[in-house]
Amino acid sequence: MNRRISRTEYEALIRGARVLQEEDYGVKVWLLPDDRVVKLFRTRRIMTSARLVPYSTRFALNARRLHKRGICAPEVLDTFHCPEIERHGVVYRHLPGKSFAELLVRRRDDSLAVKLAAFLAELHEKGIYFRSVHPGNVLLLEDDNLGLIDLQDMRFRPWPLSQNARARNFRHLFASDPNSLEVRAFGFEPFVERYLQALPRGDSYKRRLKPKIMAYDRSWERGRRD
Ligand SMILES: Nc1ncnc2c1ncn2[C@@H]1O[C@H](COP(=O)(O)OP(=O)(O)OP(=O)(O)O)[C@@H](O)[C@H]1O
Ligand SMILES: [Mg+2]
Repeated sequence: MNRRISRTEYEALIRGARVLQEEDYGVKVWLLPDDRVVKLFRTRRIMTSARLVPYSTRFALNARRLHKRGICAPEVLDTFHCPEIERHGVVYRHLPGKSFAELLVRRRDDSLAVKLAAFLAELHEKGIYFRSVHPGNVLLLEDDNLGLIDLQDMRFRPWPLSQNARARNFRHLFASDPNSLEVRAFGFEPFVERYLQALPRGDSYKRRLKPKIMAYDRSWERGRRD
């Protein structure tokens, strides 16, 4: 599935590109002059089991699964492997919009919290467990839809998520990344209330779920003090 390319082909691909994300070991995300994005993953040396699919392939599969469930995600154009730079890569179309992390720094208004909480509820009802769900990976698109990036780490279930999985996912949203601090500024409980309001579920379901989610918040607070 991953096209094999040489270093020369890779360099031709990223000619004129701008860095979107960089880490100690090099550039991670490029924006090409024609608005395509190239995201690189370090090639893992040990690929023992068939389950260890390269991140680039997982990214492409997850984009398709999201589209099937009616969730906006980048359209994947290509996946490649460049052994000379020891990277797998995925090429996709840039989604026009801004991440919630960028938006929340500027204005902390309630309508953003309502949108983000309702989107999380939609993902959960659709059986989507997005491990990297922090405000840096959720975009508010120009057409006012919400969309996801960073798709390599997700699980899909044919049924809505369990209450425990939902509670665990809140922990990712609120505590997995420095970007999470922006959403914490709303306060955990008010955010959870907005999530519960958006859920198409009865009162007794919500009454059982809320303490489970809140328990994750308290465990995060304890972790922070330690
Ligand atoms: N399709 C896209 N549309 C708009 N912006 C994007 C898109 N893809 C990436 N970006 C921008 O590039 C940044 C980094 O991309 P991404 O979230 O995929 O990488 P990352 O967070 O560094 O990866 P990881 O979580 O794997 O460490 C994003 O925060 C976003 O600003
Ligand atoms: Mg990201």
